[in-house]
Amino acid sequence: MTEIQRFDRTELLADAEQFMGQYRTLKDLGFINKGGEFFPSGVHYPPITMYPPITQEDFFKGYQLPEDGLLDIYTHIPFCEKRCLFCHYPVKLGPGHELEKDRYLSALEQEMDIYMRQLGIDKIKARSILVGGGTPTYLTPDQLRRFLDYFVKRVDLSKCTQFNYDVDPNTLLGPDGAERLRIMRDYGVDRLTIGVQSLNNETLRNMNRHHGVKEVLDSIEESRKLGYQLNIEFIFGFPGQTIDSWIDDIEMAMSLDVDEIQIYRLKVEAYGDYQGPVKNVIEKQSLRVLDDNETLMMKRIAINMLTSRGFTENIRRVFCRTKKHVSHYAWNQCCMLYDEVGFGLTAFSSLRDRYGLNTQFFDEYYAQIAAGKLPLNRGLVRNEEEQKRWAAILPLKNSYVQKKIYRERTGESVDNFFPEKMARLKEYGLVVEDEHRITPTKLGAFFADEVVQQFYRSDYMPVARDEYAEGPLNPYLP
Ligand SMILES: C[S@@+](CC[C@H](N)C(=O)[O-])C[C@H]1O[C@@H](n2cnc3c(N)ncnc32)[C@H](O)[C@@H]1O
Ligand code: SF4
Repeated sequence: MTEIQRFDRTELLADAEQFMGQYRTLKDLGFINKGGEFFPSGVHYPPITMYPPITQEDFFKGYQLPEDGLLDIYTHIPFCEKRCLFCHYPVKLGPGHELEKDRYLSALEQEMDIYMRQLGIDKIKARSILVGGGTPTYLTPDQLRRFLDYFVKRVDLSKCTQFNYDVDPNTLLGPDGAERLRIMRDYGVDRLTIGVQSLNNETLRNMNRHHGVKEVLDSIEESRKLGYQLNIEFIFGFPGQTIDSWIDDIEMAMSLDVDEIQIYRLKVEAYGDYQGPVKNVIEKQSLRVLDDNETLMMKRIAINMLTSRGFTENIRRVFCRTKKHVSHYAWNQCCMLYDEVGFGLTAFSSLRDRYGLNTQFFDEYYAQIAAGKLPLNRGLVRNEEEQKRWAAILPLKNSYVQKKIYRERTGESVDNFFPEKMARLKEYGLVVEDEHRITPTKLGAFFADEVVQQFYRSDYMPVARDEYAEGPLNPYLP
């Protein structure tokens, strides 16, 4: 950790307040919903809750592996120490699930085998790997070794450019933590995403996190000793946080020995089927609740702080010290639109023109695998129109549309993609275009979720037409 460099707070606040004028203008134009509610578009289109049921047979009908056979791989391990109040993921909590974890790891192993049989391969050629959760390091060192051992036996790592684990600080500490760090390194893991969430002990307690600031600092130090690339994640807009405490967080984050800082705006509504406890916290108002103005000022302030000290937003929300530090998994899936397979509860696969989602329920997960089937229960093979929306929405949200890739994935030129809407976004300074790319401007990047919602099919929109002002940027306009 280096010395904390302080910022001029009056300047940061003045800029953020001025920026809120632009926010109000965008609301008047119909671009942002009147209530200022936050609907992230994430890495899926259509939104994850809106997929119809699909069978394994229909999901794979007509699918062929890419010519080079490379796939990005996601694997999900849904166990954690305790429930963080902002979290919407279905997880089993606490130390009482050792047998269940063994059972889950066995099912996951079988799921990989069923998947490979379905694809007609005996190893998966990995382009990149992400193991997430849950807390995938909330396994005993023996369980972690067992998992990694069978996992890498099924994966060809020769072309894999990054092997990332999402971890929490506690699981990297003490003798077990040291062993986990060594085991992961031995199996080729080279990047860790540490869920830090805040560097303020009171906020961490309010979030019901299972660690304090000291554990965060120690876990970064221990990981660095083994040479991991490090990405740390934060949440802003959580009840009880203040603009001042958030500036402290970012100042301190920049003094840490990490490569990337990722900032998430608090999402109150569930992403999937499970609604986390944060809605209750807000309804009870036991902590001071922040409105959209304050939350967006926090975002503006953090972006100004990070970019003024040399961090670049290489992929939305993630601020890196150098270009090479980016999640390959996220880049490949959302910006290059490469094929990706997912294993485990809630995991998804994104294969060329289709998206399949695994069940969110443990019992169904085990039962499907015991019956020799993949635990897929929802998904979609996109028609031509939906394929075009998908091929523009994901990269525009996460970085920029590369015209060549759009053409490869759709067979068409992006010039024909909603030209009137695109022209309006350009007119209002939200996107720019050159020979090779369509890129959100700084303002467009700030409101990237709203930029891409311009291109949603109307029945996938998060709120009704009259929730937006009837201006020229109302997303329901053709
Ligand atoms: C898939 S989660 C798993 C994180 C990991 N289990 C941990 O807690 O450290 C990845 C990140 O999403 C962010 N996140 C989770 N729930 C969120 C919510 N409701 N709103 C905004 N960000 C959220 C957090 O920063 C979290 O670290
Ligand atoms: S945020 Fe992470 S550690 Fe907390 S409950 Fe959710 S998945 Fe588990």
